[in-house]
Amino acid sequence: MAGAIRKAVFPAAGLGTRFLPATKAQPKEMLVLVDKPVIQYGVEEAVQSGVDNIIIVTGRGKNAIEDHFDVAVELESYLEQRGKTAQLEEIRKISRLIHVSYVRQGEPLGLGHAVLVTKQMVGQEPFAVILGDDVIDATPPALKQMIDVFERLDGPVLAVERVSADDVSSYGVVAIQEGADLGKGVHRITDMVEKPRREEAPSNLAIIGRYILTPDIFPALEATASDRTGEIQLTNGLKRLLRERPIYACEIEGVRHDTGNKLGFLKALVYFALQRPDLADPFRRYLETLNLKVGAP
Ligand code: G1P
Repeated sequence: MAGAIRKAVFPAAGLGTRFLPATKAQPKEMLVLVDKPVIQYGVEEAVQSGVDNIIIVTGRGKNAIEDHFDVAVELESYLEQRGKTAQLEEIRKISRLIHVSYVRQGEPLGLGHAVLVTKQMVGQEPFAVILGDDVIDATPPALKQMIDVFERLDGPVLAVERVSADDVSSYGVVAIQEGADLGKGVHRITDMVEKPRREEAPSNLAIIGRYILTPDIFPALEATASDRTGEIQLTNGLKRLLRERPIYACEIEGVRHDTGNKLGFLKALVYFALQRPDLADPFRRYLETLNLKVGAP
């Protein structure tokens, strides 16, 4: 019987160089989509999936993340005195509903290393890893879809999405067993490669930023060598673990935005603004006034 998923790890120690200068003095996880920092979308997904223990892997210059999830006493009493109950509830929700702990990564030695530094905090239980850059709009939430597969198959589950051949080199890519009937969009993984060249990719099923892992990932990562860039890749740790146990891929039903690059961030911003009842109509009317052909070939 698979144990319950109570903890979610959020690697957040990266330098965010793609968004400089915005990220010079501010963590990229705190960039704002409409009125919520990107990382909060992932945290809310975790909470809506039944996970209430959040472990954030941070590094230098990431204090704003800790402040964001902490109780803001002055701000709360300010809002309380002025009767701004809706806003008060909104900020209380952030700090009161979840338990957040922090662990420092120290050196930027890769995603596998970021997971490894949570070993003591995670302990001997299955857990989730959420890469906050990937913001997924889905019902049920993406992580919940994966937890359902984990409970059924009792093995690690990676979220995957079909991407174009031009994009495989940006992702971990999995090979799957064809013809196995594990349910819609669920596959048994037979191999995986981190950021393959187009001609070397075993499929177009790319790992997106959600994982359900079991504690045996830790010894597998400890035994995984750094790659050419000096980083320990989570994909390589999982590939090693694959020799010992089945690992599954789950195609998520929903809309994923890669907010880790500028174009993806802009698309996500427009997408989420158009979902907001208070903004959708005036924002759509504004977009319609733009001459969107300007600059097009
Ligand atoms: C990481 C992983 C990669 C995965 C991707 C998903 O890469 O190493 O396997 O496909 O996240 O977003 P990164 O985007 O950090 O380079």
